[in-house]
Amino acid sequence: MEALDQRGRPLRDLRISVTDRCNLRCTYCMPREHFGSDHAFLPKEDILRFEHIADVVEACVDLGLQKIRITGGEPLLRRDLDVLVTMLRKVHPDADLALTTNGVILERHAERLLKAGLDRVTVSMDALSPSVYSAMGDVEHGPEATLFGIEKALKIGLGVKVNCVVRAGVNEGELLPLLQHFGPRNVPVRFIEFMDVGATNQWALDEVVTSKNVRRIIAEQLGEVTPLDPTAFGEVARRWQTPQGWEFGTIDSISVPFCGDCTRARLAADGSVHTCLFSNEGKPLMPLIKSGASKQELQHAVRSIWESRSDAYSEERSAQKERPSGKVEMSFIGG
Ligand code: GTP
Ligand code: 5AD
Ligand code: SF4
Ligand code: SF4
Repeated sequence: MEALDQRGRPLRDLRISVTDRCNLRCTYCMPREHFGSDHAFLPKEDILRFEHIADVVEACVDLGLQKIRITGGEPLLRRDLDVLVTMLRKVHPDADLALTTNGVILERHAERLLKAGLDRVTVSMDALSPSVYSAMGDVEHGPEATLFGIEKALKIGLGVKVNCVVRAGVNEGELLPLLQHFGPRNVPVRFIEFMDVGATNQWALDEVVTSKNVRRIIAEQLGEVTPLDPTAFGEVARRWQTPQGWEFGTIDSISVPFCGDCTRARLAADGSVHTCLFSNEGKPLMPLIKSGASKQELQHAVRSIWESRSDAYSEERSAQKERPSGKVEMSFIGG
């Protein structure tokens, strides 16, 4: 029987962070001054093993789970990730099974992931220009490896979407080049409003480029854009089309919050469950898992976490005077 939270929202979507580590240092997510060489990442013994992740997913299937997204940090840094994909495909043959990655090492992993049962990848890429790309990711290299990874994924038949976080004054000039590159390849680029997630990214409202402005910038160059219908209930991105027939999306978490139909739970790499991207702390499943809990016991635990949920942070944000402290980082609970 499906699980409903305090606002009547079903649990449909599970986002699983398999590591809190990443090979980029995007300024809006893992600023280097907070995630330097002395940063304490999760020790190996505190990270959920693949079998345990599969047990949690299996427990969620009867609760109504339809979508599974593997994230990080950078999930491809976790060794043998295709083994996890195989396990998840086995416990949920019908799931929409996706991976969020920065694509830097995707080219060498794509084939095995597809064979293991992955449906699609969402690749984070904030610029085509090498200098802007390296400034956004705070790395020495440009986007070449990621572009190879995307081409490989397309060639072998994985579904591909691109995510681009837009930061005022930094990468607004990249919207058009990204759309002109990916539009003709039928790869939707989703432009994301810079969010106040976590506690380290120095978020400021004047650095947010609203979805309305994204559409204005695109329409000025390419002509009027038209809205497309959602493909699923609770879809995060709003979809648009240019006169050339290129699809793109906007993720308007700041200007048009979408908590009303938020059906997403997050499983962090340490086994804690978070019912909101902006939560302060999760509910730990590790003790239960380590005690050898049965599928029923795990299911009961997840159900009671979900049924007590009333989160709607993005809708409540504007009523708050101060930015709340202690929020967990997105690299920890998964994007
Ligand atoms: P599709 O299933 O392909 O539509 O993917 P998705 O939009 O569910 O997932 P994706 O990981 O691509 O999400 C895109 C971005 O939207 C994330 O990186 C976040 O920045 C933002 N996002 C996703 N889920 C939430 C959420 O529950 N709340 C908020 N505020 N933002 C979210
Ligand atoms: N605001 C918006 N999106 C973010 N992401 C990470 N941090 C932020 C933020 N502060 C997105 C990245 C990536 C996904 C993992 O999360 O673009 O697509
Ligand atoms: Fe890494 Fe993704 Fe965060 Fe960038 S947004 S630092 S690629 S986890
Ligand atoms: Fe869901 Fe929280 Fe995001 Fe609202 S802010 S859409 S409740 S994750």
